[in-house]
Amino acid sequence: MTISSVSNLQNRFLDEEFHLTILPEFLRIYDARPIRDNQGGMQLNHSYACFCVLKILTPSTIIESGVWKGVSTWLLQSVLPNAKLICLDPVLSNLQYQSPTAEYSRSDFFDSDWTNTDVHNSLCIFDDHQSALHRCLHMKWWGFKYALFEDNYPPGHGDFYSIQQISSGTGHPKIQLSSNEYRGLPLHSRFLRWLEQFTLDNLFLRRFYSSQSIVRRPNLVDRIGFKLNIDICMELPCLLFSSDIYPCPETVEPSASLYSSFDGIKSILDCYLAKNPAMLTRAQLYYNNITFVSLK
Ligand SMILES: C[S@@+](CC[C@H](N)C(=O)[O-])C[C@H]1O[C@@H](n2cnc3c(N)ncnc32)[C@H](O)[C@@H]1O
Repeated sequence: MTISSVSNLQNRFLDEEFHLTILPEFLRIYDARPIRDNQGGMQLNHSYACFCVLKILTPSTIIESGVWKGVSTWLLQSVLPNAKLICLDPVLSNLQYQSPTAEYSRSDFFDSDWTNTDVHNSLCIFDDHQSALHRCLHMKWWGFKYALFEDNYPPGHGDFYSIQQISSGTGHPKIQLSSNEYRGLPLHSRFLRWLEQFTLDNLFLRRFYSSQSIVRRPNLVDRIGFKLNIDICMELPCLLFSSDIYPCPETVEPSASLYSSFDGIKSILDCYLAKNPAMLTRAQLYYNNITFVSLK
């Protein structure tokens, strides 16, 4: 990981040649994923954004916070097999893929001792639905510089304080902001989610989900502190979305996708989709403003 590769990140994402070189490799890797249904985890768009960041930065250590079934762990390991991989999740019972080389821990990022970690060459990947503000503070505390925030909900949405909410000053006044979150779920799941809302603070979350339960009033202070401490904050482009499938109710439709911006990418993807029509689902095309952050 070099300073120049970090400052070049934005340009690389806008460079069609870069994508034309790596997209076929990505599609080959992605096609070999060991678990096909990764609902609740990274799908096509976020996997590609993550793949690009790994290719550009080549961190020597990756800290993955939020493992779920293990699909993203599998991707990280497939792209950079020599990187040290540390996977954190308080609930490891959902694992369906376990990396033979990664270190697993049920500790929270902030409960872990990072003194022996090469923090300057590490990439933290937060897909854990915890307060992004706290994650940045915790990174700073230990000296980490680079992070990917897998979800960056717009104001008024999502279940944790996101970078967009920090930057817009809207705060995160209750834990689940998306009013449509429970729509379409079976009755018993809706009841459980509803119950969670009321018991969140005292039971489950306080024990496990350390900073998800932190609510934040609208304020401008976080925005000032964030600007003061951040070098780069970049929402990574969406590879592909279909206006038939979007807008996804929880997110803002991306203004453009790489697919619609570059003819070369479009033809690679058209070819791929013709062979893999099952990819054209709302789940696969989910995009939630995955964001790269570099701290000062
Ligand atoms: C969205 S899923 C992760 C998906 C996974 N990265 C993927 O793409 O396949 C969120 C995960 O975060 C975990 N989680 C919750 N609180 C956490 C915490 N404090 N630290 C790390 N992981 C946490 C949950 O148990 C859940 O497995």
